[in-house]
Amino acid sequence: MTRTDIRKLDNYTILPGFVDVHVHLREPGFSYKETIRTGTMAAARGGFTAVCAMPNLNPVPDTLAHLKEQLDIIDRDAFIPVYPYGAITYGEKGEALADMEEMAPYVIAFSDDGRGVQSDVMMEQAMREAKRLGKLIVAHCEDNTLLHGGYIHDGAYAKAHGHKGICSASEWKQVERDLELVRKTGCGYHVCHVSTKETVELIRRAKAEGLDVTCETGPHYLLMDESDLQEDGRFKMNPPLREKADREALLEGIKDGTIDMIVTDHAPHTAEEKSKGLADSAMGVVGLETVFPLLYTYLVKEGLITLERLMELMHDNPCERFGIRQDATQYYTVWDLDAEYTIDPADFLSMGKSTPFEGWKVCGRCIKTVTPMGTAYSLD
Ligand code: DOR
Repeated sequence: MTRTDIRKLDNYTILPGFVDVHVHLREPGFSYKETIRTGTMAAARGGFTAVCAMPNLNPVPDTLAHLKEQLDIIDRDAFIPVYPYGAITYGEKGEALADMEEMAPYVIAFSDDGRGVQSDVMMEQAMREAKRLGKLIVAHCEDNTLLHGGYIHDGAYAKAHGHKGICSASEWKQVERDLELVRKTGCGYHVCHVSTKETVELIRRAKAEGLDVTCETGPHYLLMDESDLQEDGRFKMNPPLREKADREALLEGIKDGTIDMIVTDHAPHTAEEKSKGLADSAMGVVGLETVFPLLYTYLVKEGLITLERLMELMHDNPCERFGIRQDATQYYTVWDLDAEYTIDPADFLSMGKSTPFEGWKVCGRCIKTVTPMGTAYSLD
């Protein structure tokens, strides 16, 4: 089996199982939004054979004892392999380093996703410790001093509709700071959910300089921008949908290799939490069950990238960067790429139903997802 192995069987296409390094499975702590069970069922239905679970949980996995609670639920309930992140700081509060050493053997990497690490000193210490432990720092980049209460992009839509905006600099300034720390520490560094053109350019230059840097973006940043916004919580996520020029820069980054992987940032919330419009709804949208059909339909079929490149972005690169070994003869997913349908959240296995892609027409239905543990999803 070679990398990006794609096989045909009658009318079906067999693809290597997708790997998503950025999902929120909400357990322990927020099982009213999603559970390890429902989240991994949704993942398998989306063609995923591994996911990495973010640590904004309760308790936050910041000690081995806290992490153990999550590991026990994974052992009991997961339909596919789940690799948890350890937090960078206690409680993701940014004030003291988590017990990184004791968690290191059990976590995929370290992240405070959901929040940026505000203190330069704390981030430098975290990078030194992660490097010593042979782990990546996976950074949610957000400078809180630049937020000013914003909740959608600080652009034309926010101005026209009287919303508070989040400026692009709140993301890229912290990426810029972190790249300086990577230069100093030599730590392996991965940037979460890139949304701005400035971040793409910073990472492009960092790679050219030879820094040990990778990054991800999500399907909504590639297929939508602020011109798609509606007064509805399903268009609200952090970072927010930016401008056309940002979307174009991200697509360029996908094509030229600056962006290494596509993740969902699957972030389920209850219907009530998402029912409060752009100003007051919770940040986050679901994505596990729709990402592949969307990208196949709107990037591959439109001729922007090949199916092979999409598999690099959703399988090869995440596996290689995060050291996840999944042989495509054992971890695979079977698709009917000709099946056409409209995205209907009522049909999701995830407990989260909020997606900006509701009503979009797509091609590609998952027939089966298989791991050595067995069939994780089957259409019938
Ligand atoms: O939209 C988001 N939702 N962005 C984040 O950074 C966190 C996530 C969540 O946990 O809901």
